Amino acid sequence: MPNLAHPNLLNIAPYKPGQSKISGMEKVIKLSSNESPFGMPESAQKAAQAALTKAHRYPDPSASRLRETIAKRYRLNADQIVCGAGSDELLMLLAEGFATTGDEIICTKHGFSMYPICAHRVGATPVIVDEKALKADPVAIINAISKRTKLIYLANPNNPTGTYLSHDEIGQLLAAIPPEVLFVLDEAYAEYAENGLVADYESHLQLVEKHPNLVVTRTYSKIYGMGGMRLGWCYGSPMIVDALHRLRGPFNVSSVTQAAGIAAMEDMDFYNMSRAHNQEFLRFLGQKITEKGYKITPAIANFVLFDCETEAMMEKADRTLQESGIIIRRVDSYHLPTHLRVTVGSEEECILFANNLPEKND
Ligand SMILES: Cc1ncc(COP(=O)(O)O)c(C=O)c1O
Repeated sequence: MPNLAHPNLLNIAPYKPGQSKISGMEKVIKLSSNESPFGMPESAQKAAQAALTKAHRYPDPSASRLRETIAKRYRLNADQIVCGAGSDELLMLLAEGFATTGDEIICTKHGFSMYPICAHRVGATPVIVDEKALKADPVAIINAISKRTKLIYLANPNNPTGTYLSHDEIGQLLAAIPPEVLFVLDEAYAEYAENGLVADYESHLQLVEKHPNLVVTRTYSKIYGMGGMRLGWCYGSPMIVDALHRLRGPFNVSSVTQAAGIAAMEDMDFYNMSRAHNQEFLRFLGQKITEKGYKITPAIANFVLFDCETEAMMEKADRTLQESGIIIRRVDSYHLPTHLRVTVGSEEECILFANNLPEKND
């Protein structure tokens, strides 16, 4: 039987999710996928349960109440918000809407691994730009722009490095990116960092009005603990929003998910509690990992990347943790063969991780 799949698909290296099981172990501590240790907010669970009674009806195709709730919280125009089944769906639709065979899509060397997948899906060439000290380099990105560039993906903060570009550096990019190139700024982890965690980080939702080629994506999978519900949203100019509405499925966000998303966005207690916990245990993990002799990459999201310096030490650390039932993330597929990434878990999980991480050999 010949392979009937579209040739573009054959270039795609499938996305590798964080490991979730250890053979022979029933209970594991999963710190491999940057998920919330608190689960879904109770308020959102109740709203989802209530929505189940009407789940025989199709959802609101325009997710209007959800968009209005998001717009109110972030002082945005609800008409310029598009919701998706996770931000992954929106990242993919943006490639579909704005690039095709023969075009180029710029991503950075240690950027989120979905970006090259999105490029290949539409037959575009991912142009992988070098970073400096595990941080995206605005000058290198600008230099990589060619006549064929249609889109630039950048996560801020980035996964798996946790590094970010400052407000000024994003400004430098926005000033240099030609208006015909779409700039997709992926703010999946912004909630952990916005509003002053560090002085020079800012969300760029508010810059969309000034830059019609900027689109900012957000997710409910991180601080809102709703990875399994599949909900993300983006904010862009009417031109971008129009393209996404044409491409998306009419019922791409279920009624249960919409109800949960409204409740979670209004639950400021949960948001504030999650942020405070994350700040405390991000510091705790950084300190403990450093004490064990590893070099960490200072991060502002909900995970810490650390360098084991050799592949043998990386494997030893990963194996030792797995023997204690703790799963963290190998990041060799991100061109980081000696690093590991650990997600901020509950207090107990963070302590167990710290106690079981072996000392780094010299
Ligand atoms: C940088 C980044 N963007 C987007 C996503 C996708 O999130 P979602 O669950 O909304 O599809 C992730 C998930 O880990 C991520 O790390």
